[in-house]
Amino acid sequence: MNLHALLTADVQAAFVAAGIGDAPIVLQTAKNPEFGDYQINGVMGAAKKCKANPRELAQTVLAALPTDTWLGSAEVAGPGFINLRLNADFLAKELQAALNDAARLNVGLPASGEVVVIDYSAPNLAKEMHVGHLRSTIIGDSLNRVWTFLGAKVIAQNHVGDWGTQFGMLVAYLVEQQAAGSADYALSDLEQFYRNAKIRFDEDPDFADTARDYVVKLQGGDEKVLTLWRHFVETSLAHAQQIYTRLNTLLTPEDVMGESMYNDALQPCVDELMQRNIARDDNGTKLVDLPDLPERDGKGAVYIIQKQDGGFLYSTTDLACLRYSVDQLKATRLLYVVDARQSLHFHALFDVCRRAGWLPENVHAEHIPFGTMMGEDGKPFKTRSGDTVKLLDLLDEAEERAAALVREKNPDLSADDTARIARAVGIGAVKYADLSKNRISDYVFSWDSMLSFEGNTAPYLQYAYTRVASLLRRAGAYDVQVTCALNDPAEHRLALALLQFSDVLCSVADSGNPHYLAAYLYQIATLFSRFYESCPILQAAEAVKNSRLQLADLSGRTLKQGLELLGIEVLEVM
Ligand code: ARG
Repeated sequence: MNLHALLTADVQAAFVAAGIGDAPIVLQTAKNPEFGDYQINGVMGAAKKCKANPRELAQTVLAALPTDTWLGSAEVAGPGFINLRLNADFLAKELQAALNDAARLNVGLPASGEVVVIDYSAPNLAKEMHVGHLRSTIIGDSLNRVWTFLGAKVIAQNHVGDWGTQFGMLVAYLVEQQAAGSADYALSDLEQFYRNAKIRFDEDPDFADTARDYVVKLQGGDEKVLTLWRHFVETSLAHAQQIYTRLNTLLTPEDVMGESMYNDALQPCVDELMQRNIARDDNGTKLVDLPDLPERDGKGAVYIIQKQDGGFLYSTTDLACLRYSVDQLKATRLLYVVDARQSLHFHALFDVCRRAGWLPENVHAEHIPFGTMMGEDGKPFKTRSGDTVKLLDLLDEAEERAAALVREKNPDLSADDTARIARAVGIGAVKYADLSKNRISDYVFSWDSMLSFEGNTAPYLQYAYTRVASLLRRAGAYDVQVTCALNDPAEHRLALALLQFSDVLCSVADSGNPHYLAAYLYQIATLFSRFYESCPILQAAEAVKNSRLQLADLSGRTLKQGLELLGIEVLEVM
């Protein structure tokens, strides 16, 4: 059930009955729960328009609300707000329905029929994965989970950078290493491999020539060079997959759809845009003018699609890639989870594709940008010596730090249990620290705050979940068929928040903002703890106890399901 949609429909009908059907209703959750659960703010604007008395008009709307379903109480307040409170029976019945639907907690499938192509992670394979790849990977993965849960068909596309001039250099170096019999060893450290290849390239002109020759051969489809290239790409992808698995992301090798896959489609894209006069030739360079974008240095903005020497670019590949998603994958929605610094690129890409008719109006395309991960010194996150931090090292450190915490809290655990808990807590902390922030802003990566058991952190939420789990174990079975009675305000607030789960998931999908879900889960944990403090459970009389256990159970399941949609594991014991 989608609570917001349900209330909206009824309030809308009341607006129609009051003669202001055209006005936006502006239904919001109340800021202060003392006054109610929701507030309708749209009456004032409507009254101004039709020159009515806003409080009287609000009264008319209020009188037109249905009284036999969710409405508990309603009152006109201030200059013409309407405060609404839901009734306890309605909340209790919906709570029960959610508990009876173990797999989905009564969340509907509003996104069914949508085909959502999510382009995320997309490291350049020439290098080992580093912290710069973390955000796209985990934000994209969480959107994948949420859209899937809401019923969409999600197609993850890992647009890895596996093509381009640097691969000539890498292949040339690989050939040298193979001749020396040390290829396997050299490939075991990709970062070093890349560095060595670059040194050879910069130092030795013959090597550089060979490298350039390999690029031509590679793009021309030379089988021998392709085999070497494949060896390199596969090694690199295996490394990436290891990280995906450790990060508990959904990405698999099947999701890899690298730049190289579009090789044959590049020339036709350019040709078509040229023939249709969308692109033009500028001294041999093929480009599309972008009159909507601001000029730079007195020149109009352009989207270059083919270089003078005939070479293609990142932009050309994205044209072909977008067409593939629309034509072959039948996408209804394209989401590109890519660093904010690429926003002009995507703006231009969508513009060109709309003009070419490759991106029809009914297909929604959106760049989901994110900011940079900063160190505690306020500069982009680096190692002490100023190098980029390898993701593998970061994940190792997360688990080590978490293990130290677990040992400190619980020294008697076996080594296996400690490792298992440390994995869930350490990886969860890294992911949650990222997902809980507004993705547009840069954020400061801080081990101490992300691993804290207090505040809006993964360990806090994971711990909150284990508290519920342990309570339910101690309580034993309860009867879900007996409708619960919500008398205490703490019960009412928790129940209401629990029933907003579906609304929150829809807003995450619409906005591409996983932090809405994080904030919601933190709210649930906080409301649960207030409820737990003010409402005794195990000591309560049987009927009250049964009712409170229902609330506790749904709280636990919501935390678990919500964290899972962020790609974070929960534990039954910690
Ligand atoms: N490999 C690119 C980079 O590291 C990101 C690719 C994003 N996806 C895309 N379709 N352009 O910057």
